Amino acid sequence: WLPGLRGLTLWLILWLVVVKPGGVTACPKLCVCYPTPMTVSCQSQNLTIVPAGVPYDSQRVFLQNNRITELRADSFGFETQVLWLYGNNITWIEAGAFSNLRVLEELDLGDNPSLRHLEGGAFRGLEKLQSLHMHRCRLATLPHDIFHKLYSLQFLYLQENQLHFLQDDLFSDLVNLTHLFLHGNRIRALSENVFRGLVNLDRLLLHDNRIRQVNRRAFRDLGRLTILYLFNNTLAELPGQAMRDAQGIQFLRLNANPWSCGCEARPLWEWFRKARISSSELMCTSPSQRRGQDLRFLREMDFALCPMPDPGSLAGTTTTTFSTKTPDEAALPKLDQEEYWANYGNEDSSIRCYELDCAPNYDNPAFHSSSSLTVTPSALRLLSLYIVIFSLNFLFS
Ligand SMILES: *[C@@H]1O[C@H](CO)[C@@H](O)[C@H](O)[C@H]1NC(C)=O
Ligand SMILES: *[C@@H]1O[C@H](CO)[C@@H](O)[C@H](O)[C@H]1NC(C)=O
Ligand SMILES: *[C@@H]1O[C@H](CO)[C@@H](O)[C@H](O)[C@H]1NC(C)=O
Ligand SMILES: *[C@@H]1O[C@H](CO)[C@@H](O)[C@H](O)[C@H]1NC(C)=O
Repeated sequence: WLPGLRGLTLWLILWLVVVKPGGVTACPKLCVCYPTPMTVSCQSQNLTIVPAGVPYDSQRVFLQNNRITELRADSFGFETQVLWLYGNNITWIEAGAFSNLRVLEELDLGDNPSLRHLEGGAFRGLEKLQSLHMHRCRLATLPHDIFHKLYSLQFLYLQENQLHFLQDDLFSDLVNLTHLFLHGNRIRALSENVFRGLVNLDRLLLHDNRIRQVNRRAFRDLGRLTILYLFNNTLAELPGQAMRDAQGIQFLRLNANPWSCGCEARPLWEWFRKARISSSELMCTSPSQRRGQDLRFLREMDFALCPMPDPGSLAGTTTTTFSTKTPDEAALPKLDQEEYWANYGNEDSSIRCYELDCAPNYDNPAFHSSSSLTVTPSALRLLSLYIVIFSLNFLFS
C-alpha cells in the first residue's frame, strides 16, 4: 500500500461531501435541497425563470422573491405538493401552466404586482389544490372560468387587488371552499348569484371595498358562514333577507358604512332585534335627524309611519357584532383567538412553514447559501463506503 493512499482517500471523502455526486438526485444550481419532506428552496436568487433540474418527486418547491416573469406549461418538469412563487414579477401565466402538477395542494402567487390579468384555464387541472394565494397581484378582473373544477379548494386569497366586478357563478365549483378573502378590492355590488355554490363557506371577508348594493338573495347558499366582514364599504342598506339566509353568522362587522336609517332600515333593524345583538356600531348617516344614532337601537316608533314589513319568519340566532375600531378581543365568543385569526392577515410570508413539518431553520439566511453544498442520502451512503475503505486501508498499512 502506497503511503499517499490514505491521504488520497481522505480527499475523496471531502470531495464527495462538498461536491454532489453526478447522476443521482441533484439539487439545481442556486438552490438548497433537503429531504423529508423533499424540499427544493431557491428563494431570493434573482432567478428569471423556473430553474431546470428540480427533482421530479420534490414535495415542496420554494421559488419566492425572485424575478420570474412567465409561467408556461413546460416550466414545471416536476410534481410537487407545495409551490411558492410569491414576490416575483410574473406577468403571464399560460393556460394549463400547472396542468402537470397533478398533486399540487398549495400554490402561492401573491405579491406579483405585474400580473394584472389571468387567462381562462390558467389553473386547469389543479383538482387537488386546497389553497390558492393571489393577494396583491393588481388583478382588475377574473375570467369567468378561472376557478372551474377546483373542487378541493378550501382557501382562496384574493385580497388587495383591484377587482371591481365578480361574475355570477365565478365560484360555483368551489364546493369545499371555507375561506374567501376579497377585502381591499373595488367591488361595488354583490349580485344574486355571485356566491352561488359556496355551501361550505365559513368566512367571507369583503371589507375595504366599495360595495353599495347587496342583492337580497346574495347569501342564499351561505348557510354555513360564521364570519362576515362588510365594514368600510358604502352600504346604506342591507336586505334583512340576506342576513336571514346567512343563518350561521356569529361574527359580523358592518361598521364604517353610511347607513340610512329611514324606513329602508327596517328589515335590517328587525333582523338585529330578533338576532338579539349585544354590541355593535352601525352609525346612521341619514336622515339628518338620526345622524349619529345606532341603527340597531332605533325604536319601534321610529318606523311608525313606514309601510308594514314582510311577515316572513325571522330566525332567532344569537349573533354578536363588534367594531373594528375598538375590537374588544376579550369579548370574542366561542372561537378561541388563535383559531379566529388563523389565516387572517398572515400574508407576511417571510417565514412560513407548511403545516408542522418545517425543517429546522430552513428559512434561516445563515443556512441558505448560494453554493451547491448538499448532502443527499446517496452521498451519505458513498461516505460510509469510503469510511470502510479508509478503515481497511488503515488495517492493511
Ligand atoms: C439580486 O440583485 C440585486 C440587485 O441587482 C443585488 O443587489 C443582489 O445582490 C442580487 N442577489 C443575488 C443573490 O444575487
Ligand atoms: C418586471 O417585468 C417587466 C417586463 O417583463 C419589466 O419591464 C419590469 O422592469 C420588471 N420589474 C422588476 C421589478 O423587475
Ligand atoms: C369536496 O366536496 C365534495 C362534495 O361535498 C366531497 O365529495 C369531496 O370529498 C370534497 N373534497 C375534498 C378534497 O375535500
Ligand atoms: C377603507 O377602504 C379603503 C379602500 O376601499 C382604504 O383605502 C381605506 O384605508 C379604508 N379605511 C380604513 C379606515 O381602513
